[in-house]
Amino acid sequence: MENKKVTAPGLAGMKSCGEKISVLTAYDYPMGRIVDDAGIDIALVGDSVGRVVLGYDSELKVTMEDMISHSAAVSRGVRRALLVCDMPFLSYQISEDDAVRNAGRLVQEGNAEVVKLEGGEYVANTIHRIVSAGIPVIGHLGLTPQSVHQLGGFRKVGKDPEGADKIKKDALILQDAGASGIVLEAIPAALAKEVTDSLSIPTIGIGSGPDCDGQVIVTHDLLGLFDKFKPSFVKQYADVWQVMLKAFENYSRDVKDGAFPERK
Ligand code: KIV
Repeated sequence: MENKKVTAPGLAGMKSCGEKISVLTAYDYPMGRIVDDAGIDIALVGDSVGRVVLGYDSELKVTMEDMISHSAAVSRGVRRALLVCDMPFLSYQISEDDAVRNAGRLVQEGNAEVVKLEGGEYVANTIHRIVSAGIPVIGHLGLTPQSVHQLGGFRKVGKDPEGADKIKKDALILQDAGASGIVLEAIPAALAKEVTDSLSIPTIGIGSGPDCDGQVIVTHDLLGLFDKFKPSFVKQYADVWQVMLKAFENYSRDVKDGAFPERK
């Protein structure tokens, strides 16, 4: 791992050198620091914050204020990693002017370096406008949680030939619109490889097989810190829920027994 600051323009260079891009979500200062210290390339302030931190049942409830506050907190812990912040539901779908203004707020108030937004062809002009304002954008295709009701649930996308063609076409459109990278969520591995090979900008996969240019996992899934469900593709690297539970139980017992604090 090099100690060089990761930048949006540098992402394409990482792809062309064959350097895989590691991405984890982060939602607060300690997560930002630990992600950065671990040499993760991108700290993504995902709208998954709604589910895994705020306890909402959906990403759709997350607001601009939520994203600004969490992005600013993460930014205080991050130095080398690129700070990417999700644009929440309805912050970019209503008008292009609104989208530029809200992307600007994530940069100005949340210290984001890149914004991420979901969708294909219909957000191409929006991406172009945001990029023209000097703000790098990462796109997001496949399973796009902000369209969960339209997709009919959280399921793999692009399994049928029409769906696969649309994703291939959309990826090229997003690249032409100026995107610096594209998250590919829950699409078949072979399709993810085809899309990845067709682009000069990197793809970041989540549940889309090993051939993307990078991988992202929701940190709380990796840590075993989310209790509601675990996506099948997730590799859990630790059981932090149990570590915390044990520590809290031990503390509670010590307080009740008078073992904490000690007299000395
Ligand atoms: O919100 C999020 O965490 C995301 C990742 C799952 C890519 O968008």
